[in-house]
Formats: sequence, structure tokens, C-alpha cells
Amino acid sequence: MLSFGKKKIFALDIGSYSIKLIELNSSKKGYQLANMASVPLPPEAIVDGALMDTGAIVDAIRNLISSAGVKGGDVAVSVSGHSVIIKKISLPAMTENELADSIQWEAEQYIPFDIADVNLDFQILGPNAVDQTQIDVLLVAAKKEIIDDYTAVIAEAGLNAVVIDIDAFAAQNMVEINYPAEEGEVVATVNVGAELSNINIVKDGVSLFTRDVANGGNQFTEEIQKRFGVSYENADAAKLGGEVEGVDADEVKEVLQEVSGLLSSEIARTIDFFMATNPEDSVRKAYICGGGAKTEGLDKSLADKLGVPVEVVNPFSAISYNEKNFDPEYLDDVAPSFGVAVGLAIRREGD
Ligand SMILES: Nc1ncnc2c1ncn2[C@@H]1O[C@H](COP(=O)(O)OP(=O)(O)OP(=O)(O)O)[C@@H](O)[C@H]1O
Ligand SMILES: [Mg+2]
Repeated sequence: MLSFGKKKIFALDIGSYSIKLIELNSSKKGYQLANMASVPLPPEAIVDGALMDTGAIVDAIRNLISSAGVKGGDVAVSVSGHSVIIKKISLPAMTENELADSIQWEAEQYIPFDIADVNLDFQILGPNAVDQTQIDVLLVAAKKEIIDDYTAVIAEAGLNAVVIDIDAFAAQNMVEINYPAEEGEVVATVNVGAELSNINIVKDGVSLFTRDVANGGNQFTEEIQKRFGVSYENADAAKLGGEVEGVDADEVKEVLQEVSGLLSSEIARTIDFFMATNPEDSVRKAYICGGGAKTEGLDKSLADKLGVPVEVVNPFSAISYNEKNFDPEYLDDVAPSFGVAVGLAIRREGD
């Protein structure tokens, strides 16, 4: 088969709850969904962002790509959590090339890890608003260890990681194509996963602030586990509306409401902290994605706390697909959990 233009890549969002695969085609008419699939991971495979059981992860990726009918190739993946540091810093004005040469040295004081242990990336945001002799730079540092671990499992599964992104940026990317913001409008994207919630505050396509909160869908599951003395698997099933012996569905609803209050408070506190220190950049709207975004009442609870509208996003709203290949009802149901994967699937090598 011939392929024109840049080499095709597909997205693999390796989450602690499940691995998601998305492949998009792009044409003048926009994006079309070419492939989507997901596979669950055992709860102990990824813990605190660390790839603990690489065998299980590699097996899961192999199953996933074979069920999706993908043979091999180039993939985009993303990382998040405490191995990743994202900071906006100000530096004396210099060119992109000059900064590329000196970033290692410039970044040292901002990174709490040994600079030799991290991969650095940066984006020049523009001149500093207050001091014109300075430029604002978005600094991104990820521990080599985590990058190496991800690259290794991808390679072991017969694939090649050509893009390594950050979850919060992928979610931003996905929201930008589906819900274009007005000029100057400040919005928050919140990817509520299982272990983590990635918060990103964005204006005019630029990330102003990111933070990962160490809570997500697992917080609900763990509370159900404790309350009813059931296994993680049963607690998760009960959370998703399944019938589980010894678990009362009405009580589950109460737990969901309680924990929604806790999680949304934690997320709102982080966003409020940003707004208190950046009064000129008031967040107008929040978009939530990730499997946890589907928790009943979480959107309302967050909207109450933030005092701005909160929308559960559909990452496929700007993506067309053939209803013969993809069931619209299923797609709508699982859509939020594919937020990061869709954002990654838009990336191209060299981005
Ligand atoms: N319909 C639903 N209602 C409530 N919670 C849901 C629903 N569907 C999925 N979840 C929860 O969402 C979480 C998984 O979300 P997601 O797939 O985004 O996580 P992940 O990317 O695998 O994890 P992480 O990024 O934190 O490592 C789980 O806690 C799961 O129970
Ligand atoms: Mg995730």
C-alpha cells in the first residue's frame, strides 16, 4: 500500500485501568476515526505511574493491537504523574537555537531531580509581559527512567514509540479540536483517570498551568471496597452499576456522591489556587474527560465548587466515523475515557 505525506502513527494511552488505542485519518474534511479499541489492565500492573508488571502490559498491548487489526508500527504515547515536571519560567531573551543549547543549564534550578536523569523539552511562549528583556518558556522535564520504561514495553510489543507526550497536553489537544475556545478565553481541561486527575489551564492554545492530583476513579472504587468489604474488581463493577452480592446500589450512589464532593473539592482547590495567583486569567469553563469523568454527579459537583460550567467532553464530536464500523451508542458511552488517546492520535512525528 502506498502512503503519502507523513508516516502514519496511532495512539496508545497506557493507563493504569486500561490501555486505549486510537487511529485517525485526516483529510480536508477533517478527522475520521480509523480504529479504536481498549483492553483492561490488572490493578497491580501500573502503580503510582510506575510500570510494575511489564509482562502483563506487553501482553495487553499485543492483545489490543491484534484485536484492532494493527500489525505494528509507530505509536504516540504519553506519560504523567510525579515523574513529570511542567513549569513556566522566564529567561533572558534568546533564540530557539540558543535555548536548545543552554536549556540543560537553564533548567537545572527549576527541576527537583538530577538534570542528568531527565529528558527536557521546552516551548518559547513569547516575550514576558512585565519585563521585555525576558521570554516566557514552558519547560517540560520527564524522568528518563519512565520514558525508558514506556519505550521498552512498546518495543517489546513490536511497536516503535515516536511521540512521547504528556497526558495533560494530549487532553488539551483533544479539547481544542472538539471545542474551539474564543480568543483570550481561559478554560481548564481535567482528565479524571483511575489513579490521577491531570489538570491543565489553557489560554489561546497555550498551557498556563498544569498539575496532577493523585486521585481519580480509584478513589470511588476504594471507598466502595472499604464500605462493603468487597474486592477491587467487585467494587469497580458495583460502581459501574453492576449487581454485586453484599453491595447495596443505593448506598453506592451515596458513596459516589460523597467521594465526588471530595474529588471535586481537590480539583477546584488547584484551579482556585491558579486563579488566586493569576487574577487576570479567570477560568471560564472546565472540560472533563477520562473514565472518571463519567461518575454520576462529578460534573455537577465540580461546577458548584468552581462556579463555572463543567462539560463532560465527547472526544469524537469533531471526528466523523462510519456507523457500520463503530456503534454510535457504544462510542458515546465510552467516549470520555478516550480523551487522551484522541489527543495523542492527532500528534505527528516531530511535533
Ligand atoms: N461509566 C463510568 N462511571 C464511573 N466511573 C467510570 C465509568 N467508566 C469508567 N470509570 C472509571 O474510570 C477510571 C478509568 O478511567 P481511565 O480509563 O481514564 O483511566 P486510566 O487512563 O486507565 O488511568 P490513569 O490515567 O489514572 O492511570 C476507573 O476508575 C473506572 O472505574
Ligand atoms: Mg489516563
